Amino acid sequence: MISKKLNNGISIPCIGFGTYKTTVDDGYRIILDAINTGYRHLDTAAIYNNEEEVGRAVRESGVAREEFFITSKLNRNRLGYENTKKEFEESLKKLQTDYLDLYLIHWPRSDYGRDDYDNWKELDRETWRAMEELQREGRVRSIGVSNFLPHHLDNLLETAETVPAINQLELHPGYMQEEAVAYCREKGIAVEAWSPIGRARIIKDPLLIRLAGKYGISVPHLCLIFGLQNDFIILPKSTHIESMKENLVYDDIRISDEDMETIRSMPEAGWSGEHPDRETVKPGL
Ligand SMILES: NC(=O)c1ccc[n+]([C@@H]2O[C@H](COP(=O)([O-])OP(=O)(O)OC[C@H]3O[C@@H](n4cnc5c(N)ncnc54)[C@H](OP(=O)(O)O)[C@@H]3O)[C@@H](O)[C@H]2O)c1
Repeated sequence: MISKKLNNGISIPCIGFGTYKTTVDDGYRIILDAINTGYRHLDTAAIYNNEEEVGRAVRESGVAREEFFITSKLNRNRLGYENTKKEFEESLKKLQTDYLDLYLIHWPRSDYGRDDYDNWKELDRETWRAMEELQREGRVRSIGVSNFLPHHLDNLLETAETVPAINQLELHPGYMQEEAVAYCREKGIAVEAWSPIGRARIIKDPLLIRLAGKYGISVPHLCLIFGLQNDFIILPKSTHIESMKENLVYDDIRISDEDMETIRSMPEAGWSGEHPDRETVKPGL
């Protein structure tokens, strides 16, 4: 499994298994299938409501805990110093582990319309202070953020003692968030791609179908190789063993520089409609 070093020297496998909505069928079974297929990097979150299933699958897989890289995320509506400490303990308990490999602030702001929505600057800084303490105490190996745009990171970095190791962003062909990615690169923050296959919304895109055909691979596989070649850590999710296997393979195929550029500059497609600052987004999305 290919891996990369974070800004704190810790290694992370470049392909992680996304567990969002694995609770729809039999979450435990799906996660165990992923582990048996070879995934050791698992991406969960308090809001996914499946930390117990992830913990159970890890424990019952028979694979040693140290071989896993487990990420969880703090619920956006539980920002703040005290909440962070409490939520972290909850996540550990559900995951049945005594440490996390990575803990992320899931979103920089609470849900739009909540009373604390406008107080995000102070809440993010206080959340981060708690996360830095958890890291110093050895409860979590790396700390980071998710869905943070440059202005959210600017705010955090004004008082942070630790630069986030990771920013997890929606990134796939048709949604490249170039400004946020460039900002992270400049600060030494590794970039993780959520929905690297655009949650399957882009698999019928004619340009991607043509290019996938050229390389003799499927559109999902093209999206994932594209993500890795962009130096993203990718988090594909699938409920099917065949797709899990396909998504784990980083074979000899290399997308040419020209085709990379063509994909990078394709028109917007497959965006989830989720944005950290809801008031800046068109109503209805
Ligand atoms: N930080 C955040 O705010 C955030 C937000 C969203 C997601 N995430 C993380 O990112 C992970 C991945 O994102 P995602 O689940 O939204 O979407 P995704 O991984 O881009 O796409 C998943 C979809 O693609 C299909 N698929 C996967 N591999 C395939 C293959 N080889 N061939 C054909 N279809 C394939 C899956 O179908 P089947 O399941 O039917 O196989 C599923 O419908 C999540 O699970 C979660 O861990 C984070």
